[in-house]
Amino acid sequence: MFLPNKLPEKFVETFIQESPMTFARYMELCLYHPEFGYYANAPKIGKKGDYFTAPAVHPVFGAAVAKQILEIWEFMGKPSNFVILEAGAGEGYLALDIINYFSLREIDLSYWILEPFLPNQKRQKQTLKEQVKKIKWFATWEEVPLFIGVFLSNELFDSFPVHLIEKTAEDLQEVYVIFEGHFREVLGGLSRPEILERVLPHANYWPEGYRTEVCLSYRNFLKEIAKHLHKGVIITFDYGYSRADFYHPDRQQGTLICFREHQVLENPYLFPGKCDLTAHVDFTALKEIGESFGLYPVGFTTQAAFLVGLGVEKLLEEIGRTGPRDIEALKLLLLPQGLGMSHWVFVQARNMPLPLALSGFKLSNRLGIL
Ligand SMILES: C[S@@+](CC[C@H](N)C(=O)[O-])C[C@H]1O[C@@H](n2cnc3c(N)ncnc32)[C@H](O)[C@@H]1O
Repeated sequence: MFLPNKLPEKFVETFIQESPMTFARYMELCLYHPEFGYYANAPKIGKKGDYFTAPAVHPVFGAAVAKQILEIWEFMGKPSNFVILEAGAGEGYLALDIINYFSLREIDLSYWILEPFLPNQKRQKQTLKEQVKKIKWFATWEEVPLFIGVFLSNELFDSFPVHLIEKTAEDLQEVYVIFEGHFREVLGGLSRPEILERVLPHANYWPEGYRTEVCLSYRNFLKEIAKHLHKGVIITFDYGYSRADFYHPDRQQGTLICFREHQVLENPYLFPGKCDLTAHVDFTALKEIGESFGLYPVGFTTQAAFLVGLGVEKLLEEIGRTGPRDIEALKLLLLPQGLGMSHWVFVQARNMPLPLALSGFKLSNRLGIL
């Protein structure tokens, strides 16, 4: 039994009406409810927010991504209709740093942002006020035209709702959430057969009581990418694991966590709509589902290896940021105790001549573990 902090009346009604709901639906309401969801209320990222992301740490992250994008653009023969579509742009820092790096190199490429939440779009427009005329914003996939170029996201897939499952003495069960003044969990049969397909054969080795997550929303999103990206590359930054690592018997409590004011909370029922709820990404799932839509895996490596492969230290000089604070920020991006080893980059290609030799994978490419 979990007692949440005070909830708006209408939100309470929704939880009551929908009970019992899968945990995925609970998470969807907490993050995506159009009025009370966490993302609908333009959460801040960085010191004043609930968590940091790489673009909020330092502009050199965006400069490195921009350098990688330019290499892809050159590889494609510098098409004039090349577009970068970033989904879930948060504060807009990554877009700003990428566009600034292009300007430094006197290159002008089209930048689009897919952001479903209008308050977030507004925040992005503030960050990008000098570039606002150059950028196109879209709230839904339906509005996005067919394009060639790069689809980009940072820490997006980890926010997709996940089904929560538990191994019992008899079989695999799913966690359902009931609201009756407080939240309560009950176990029941799996709501979708794909859940079992995702975790076999790993589930055979789990001990009783093992809890983990399965994200089924990757499929629709990757399908939309494949439908809209006629030719080009998909760059995904996020924290996560290969499937074997994700569903390792030792990871008995899964990866679900909440972030609130830079604190990690393990109980997802305390602040519905008021804290970020996330699960690590199953990169093997992104690879397999992507392949079924014609997205071919190109590379997988840690954020640290990717940035170093792109010459991140030289990039600091190039963007004129070599002070002690810049070096500290670089350490945060690269070191294992920062974002260097927990965060990964996964690249897929669509309708591109392969192999695609990208500088980001010059130091290491661990695609084989997916
Ligand atoms: C964790 S934040 C990451 C923000 C930013 N990329 C960064 O790294 O700082 C997730 C962002 O994705 C957006 N978002 C959530 N679901 C989305 C979806 N289905 N399509 C596009 N954007 C989405 C949220 O509004 C938010 O801007």
